Amino acid sequence: MRLTLKSGSIKNAPESYVRIIFTEKNKGTNRFINKGKEETLEIGAGKRAEMNRRKFMILCRSVIQTAKVNKVKKIAVQFDTFKKFYNPQLVAENFEMANFDFNVFKTEPEEGWDDIEEVLLYGTSSPEIEKSVKKGQEIGRAVNACRTLANTPGGDITPTTLAKAAKDAVKGLPVKVTTLGKKEMEKLGMGAILGVAKGSTEAPTFTIMEYKGDKGAPVVLAGKGVTFDSGGLNLKPSNSIYEMHMDMSGASAVIHAVALSARLKLKRNVIGLIPSVENMPGNNAYRPGDILKSLSGKTIEVLDTDAEGRLILADTLTYAKRFKPAVVIDVATLTGASLVTLGLHASALLTRDDALAEKIAQAGEKSGDYVWRLPLWDEYEDRVKGEFADIKNVPGGPTSRYGGAIDGGMFLWQFAKELDCPWAHLDIAPRMTSAPGDELAKGAAGAPVRLLIHFIEHYAV
Ligand code: BES
Ligand code: MN
Ligand code: ZN
Repeated sequence: MRLTLKSGSIKNAPESYVRIIFTEKNKGTNRFINKGKEETLEIGAGKRAEMNRRKFMILCRSVIQTAKVNKVKKIAVQFDTFKKFYNPQLVAENFEMANFDFNVFKTEPEEGWDDIEEVLLYGTSSPEIEKSVKKGQEIGRAVNACRTLANTPGGDITPTTLAKAAKDAVKGLPVKVTTLGKKEMEKLGMGAILGVAKGSTEAPTFTIMEYKGDKGAPVVLAGKGVTFDSGGLNLKPSNSIYEMHMDMSGASAVIHAVALSARLKLKRNVIGLIPSVENMPGNNAYRPGDILKSLSGKTIEVLDTDAEGRLILADTLTYAKRFKPAVVIDVATLTGASLVTLGLHASALLTRDDALAEKIAQAGEKSGDYVWRLPLWDEYEDRVKGEFADIKNVPGGPTSRYGGAIDGGMFLWQFAKELDCPWAHLDIAPRMTSAPGDELAKGAAGAPVRLLIHFIEHYAV
C-alpha cells in the first residue's frame, strides 16, 4: 500500500481518489454518494466527543475494510477533526494491518485481490510526520509478516522450516541467526524440549536471533514454536485441534519483533529465542508419567502431554540466562484457560515484577496489543510442585482445570526465578486469532509484535 502525506484539505484530492468522509453516525452506516464525478465514501465514526485511542485504531481499520468491500483501490482521507487522537504512525500501522489478507494459498481472482493500492493522507505534513508514517507502515508490515507465518498450515511448516523462516525474516538486516539441531540440544541437555519432540518424525530446533543496537544488557524474547499441537498422547478432542497450526504464534511474533527492531534500528540489544517442536502422538511419543530432565537440572513430571508449551519454554528460560538479560519476556499460546478468563480481546500477563507489569501494560495500551494481568502469588505455587519429580507440568486431580493460565505462568516461574532479571509471561492464546469487531482479516492477529516493539523502544532501560 502506498501511503502519501498531502498538506492541505482533502477537497483538493484528485478525482481518481475516492474521498473518505466521517460522519457522527455509528459505524456501519457507510455509503457512496456521487457528486458529479468525484466519489465519496461516508463512514460513521460515532460521536467525536466519544472518540478515544482504542476506537481511533478501529476506525482507521474500518476505513480500509470499507474501501475494500466497495472495491475501491485509491482513497483520500483526512483525520484532522479527530484532533488529539489523530496520530499518523497509528494510522499507518492500522491501515497496513487492515489491508492484509492471508491469500498465499488462494488463486488470485481475475480482477486481482481487493486490497487498497494507494492512500493520500491529507492534513499537516512535515518531514517528521513523514517519518512517523514510514515507521507505522514498517510496524504494520511486520505485524502482517507475523500473521502470514502464524497462519501457515501445520503441513507446510516444521521446526526446521520455522527456523528457516527466522533466517528469511532478517535477510539483509544486521541480525545473527543460529539454529541448534537435535544433537546440539542433546549435548546441552535440553531434556524438556527433546521430550516433547519425541512423538513427531520432525526433529526439534532451537533458534537464536541476535540484534545488537547497543552495548547494554539485552531484552530477551522467547516465543513458543509448536508447529502443530495435536496434544500428543493426551490427544486433543476433535473440535479443539483445528487451529493448532497457529501454536507457533509466539515464535512468529518474536521472529518479527526482532526483525523489526533491526529494521527500525532501535538502540537496544534484542535477542529472540525460538524453541520449536511438533507435538504429536507418534510411536516414540513422551507419555503421561514420564519424567523429563530439564536444562536447568530440575526434573519435570509430565501429567499431561498437551501442556507442552511450558515444557519447551522451561529450557528456553534456562538458556536465556547465558545472555545476562536486562529483562526476559516469553510469548506463547499457552492455555485455553486464558481464553476462558479473558475472552478474545486481551492477552494474559503474568509476572512477579510490578514495575515490569506496569511497563508492559502501558506498551499494550498504547500499541493496541492489550494485556490484562493475572496473579502469580506464592499461594499458587504448591500446584506445580511434583510428586515424583521436582515439578509437574499440570496440577492434576479434581482441581486441575482451575486457574489454568496461572498454573502455566507458575510453572514457568519455577525456571524464570533462576534468572537475575525481571521476567514476564504473555499468554497470547486469546489473541491468536482476530476477534469479531477487530476489523482484521480472519486468522492470525499478529499479537503482540506492536507491544514488543513499543516496549523495546520506550521502556526497556
Ligand atoms: N496450545 C495449547 C493452548 C491453546 C488452546 C492455544 C486454544 C490457543 C487456543 C496448549 O498447548 C494446551 O494444549 N494447553 C492445555 C493445557 C492443559 C493441558 C493444562 C489447555 O489449554 O487445555
Ligand atoms: Mn498443548
Ligand atoms: Zn500448545
